[in-house]
Amino acid sequence: MKEQLAKIRAEALEALERTSLPAELDELRVRYLGKKGELTAVLKQMGSLSAEERPQMGALVNEVKASLESAIEAQAQRLESTAMEARLKLEAVDVTIPGKVHKQGHKHPMYIALDEIKEIFIGMGFTVLDGPEIELGELNFDRLNAEEGHPSRDWSDTFYFDTDEKVMLRSQTSPMQVRAMDSMELPIRIIAPGRVYRKDEVDATHSPMFHQVEGMVIDKNVTMADLKGTLNLLAEKLFGVGTVTRFRPHHFPFTEPSCEMDVQCHKCGGVGCPTCKGEGWIELLGAGMIHPRVLEMAGIDPNKWSGWAFGMGLERTAMRRFKIADLRLIFENDVRFLEQF
Ligand code: PHE
Repeated sequence: MKEQLAKIRAEALEALERTSLPAELDELRVRYLGKKGELTAVLKQMGSLSAEERPQMGALVNEVKASLESAIEAQAQRLESTAMEARLKLEAVDVTIPGKVHKQGHKHPMYIALDEIKEIFIGMGFTVLDGPEIELGELNFDRLNAEEGHPSRDWSDTFYFDTDEKVMLRSQTSPMQVRAMDSMELPIRIIAPGRVYRKDEVDATHSPMFHQVEGMVIDKNVTMADLKGTLNLLAEKLFGVGTVTRFRPHHFPFTEPSCEMDVQCHKCGGVGCPTCKGEGWIELLGAGMIHPRVLEMAGIDPNKWSGWAFGMGLERTAMRRFKIADLRLIFENDVRFLEQF
């Protein structure tokens, strides 16, 4: 029995050494110390011992039992502390790792150009107006002398909200002329930048949404010379002294006479290249003297007052301002492009 006990102790201690999980410890506890365990089995043999041997063996069994219990307890503590160390290691925070740097955004080049345009006009005494992108057909067309049947009113060009054509996405910023005439005291000097929408303009170089800046002056004795002088000054301030412009006759229902202003291409200097589609010039804006009927419809006497207006494409202006070769870059918002400004 002594040998048996020594063997049990040796085996148990060895098995204990190899445990790495609390569940394994429990198994060993049951196997050696449990009711059906190996020590209990030895105790059951005590009956066959003599009266002198019995207390000796009892003491020995108790000693083995106590030593196994304390060994199991010690191993339990060891397992617990290694588990804790592993967890601490796993969850450790390295406070020396550099923080995440958040990228800071900045103004889109087109809005940088718009800010410059605003500055230039504010310096000349203009007020900057903001107007609705959802506009009344009455202001976008009727009050601008574009009668029923005018091609710009066509469904293929215009985003109407309903068949009655009463409400639409504005196709130009020109209704802001009417809104200014209706709400402001004369004389008037305003610009009105914003988004406009057209159905027909969908291809590689056109977008169904683009930006315009409307400008208008109504005062006494205002002439086409004032219009040209102001727009040439704008071109010089925006694009640099010596910028070459040209004015071509054109037609708009709400101006008479009407013109378009081109600025010499920055890419080729007027020779012709893909950026200017071989023209040597980039069309920047439409303009003209406000049609007397438009003034009359706003209750302004065209014999006392005269005025001029223009509507410029903001994307094109920004392209010319920053020497951007392709309009699509303005819309794609590729950060490799945007970060250059
Ligand atoms: N609204 C015109 C357009 O979108 C431009 C324009 C504005 C022309 C003001 C003359 C006067 O093409």
